[in-house]
Amino acid sequence: MQKAIQVSNGICYVGVNDRVKVLFENLWPLPRGVSYNAYIIEDEKTVLVDTVDTCYVNEFSRRIQSVLGDKPIDYLVVNHMEPDHSGAIEWLVTRYPNIQIVGNKRTIEMLNGFYGIEDNVFAVEDQEELSIGENRLKFFLTPMVHWPETMMTYVQEKKVLFTGDAFGTFGTLDGGILDTQLYIERYRDEMIRYYANIVGKYGSAVQKALQKVSGIAIEAICPTHGPMWTNPENIAKVVTMYDRLSRYDADEGLVIAYGSMYGNTGRLAEVIAEAAAANGVKEIAMHNVSKSHQSDILRDVFKYKGLIIGSPTYNGNLYPLVESLVSALEDRLLKNRFFGCFGSFCWSDATARHFGAFVQGKPFEVVADPVVMKQGMLAQVEAQARDMGRVMAQKLTSGAEVVPNTSGK
Ligand code: FEO
Repeated sequence: MQKAIQVSNGICYVGVNDRVKVLFENLWPLPRGVSYNAYIIEDEKTVLVDTVDTCYVNEFSRRIQSVLGDKPIDYLVVNHMEPDHSGAIEWLVTRYPNIQIVGNKRTIEMLNGFYGIEDNVFAVEDQEELSIGENRLKFFLTPMVHWPETMMTYVQEKKVLFTGDAFGTFGTLDGGILDTQLYIERYRDEMIRYYANIVGKYGSAVQKALQKVSGIAIEAICPTHGPMWTNPENIAKVVTMYDRLSRYDADEGLVIAYGSMYGNTGRLAEVIAEAAAANGVKEIAMHNVSKSHQSDILRDVFKYKGLIIGSPTYNGNLYPLVESLVSALEDRLLKNRFFGCFGSFCWSDATARHFGAFVQGKPFEVVADPVVMKQGMLAQVEAQARDMGRVMAQKLTSGAEVVPNTSGK
């Protein structure tokens, strides 16, 4: 039988690894799987914090059994109702009919909406406390990190914070569960990809949540996905990472994302990249949108301060996969970027107009006029592309702050 693993004295991990699912939310690739984290706190009262995807009820049950045997569970704390965490609740209330479910007003509505559960539920207010014996739980409502009902639960005496999706990452827990037991460099990019794709729209909500818990002492961060963060240096790093990501703060570096049917728009992308590199930009992430998965492009857009997008005109519009990327950036309220765009057309240009509409009113600094190629590469267009790469490099390497400017220059 798989055993539960101790997170801290009196707190055990009873989550599961998903090495089967291909797409998270049926959208985002999981090359290294994902974990659904759940925890048991043992005190005078026994508390389960979150559950797992419904596909993993059997393994979840075995893990709980390995900690509790036949002992009942008094409380289930629901920090997040998305079904990857709430999917096992129906099974749980059947197996433990007297369990009390703790959430907030929005959780209670969703418990009824998703599962028809109305009995033995109670709502807590922001910063309300619940004594479970020697320990007290304190609940911090953190709406929109990532859904409206999301909250965090803090075990005051142990200084352990259960954070829901915040600080979560893609990637299974292979053997170990704590940051100190794992090669954590493997999770860094996946944490950013998780943030950019799942939580990225809700930067202001993340900022409010960070502010709310900023005064508490934390010795362990226990998210719903990925490693538990227990090393003080790692805790500081992931908190800083979340603070920066949610403020749309980014590193010196450049994303060039482009669509290209026959290679002409791609040639422009190469010229811009060469010029940026020749002028000192080392971190350049090139993405052909027809090959790179959008989740990887979004990850890099959240990592780097420079963004240049290119597209051929296609049916009087942007190339469909570029249009999809632009829409995803709109969704995530992207801001604070040095921006440039380029395109190509055969008989009627639409790229400049569409990119112009995209940047209109956005807090971007447009570093150069759009570079637009008619049919093939002429020397004048190539020079403009080199100039865009050079100007972008100057902005990035000078350490300049983005000064919003959407006038096209
Ligand atoms: Fe991991 Fe928003 O669910």
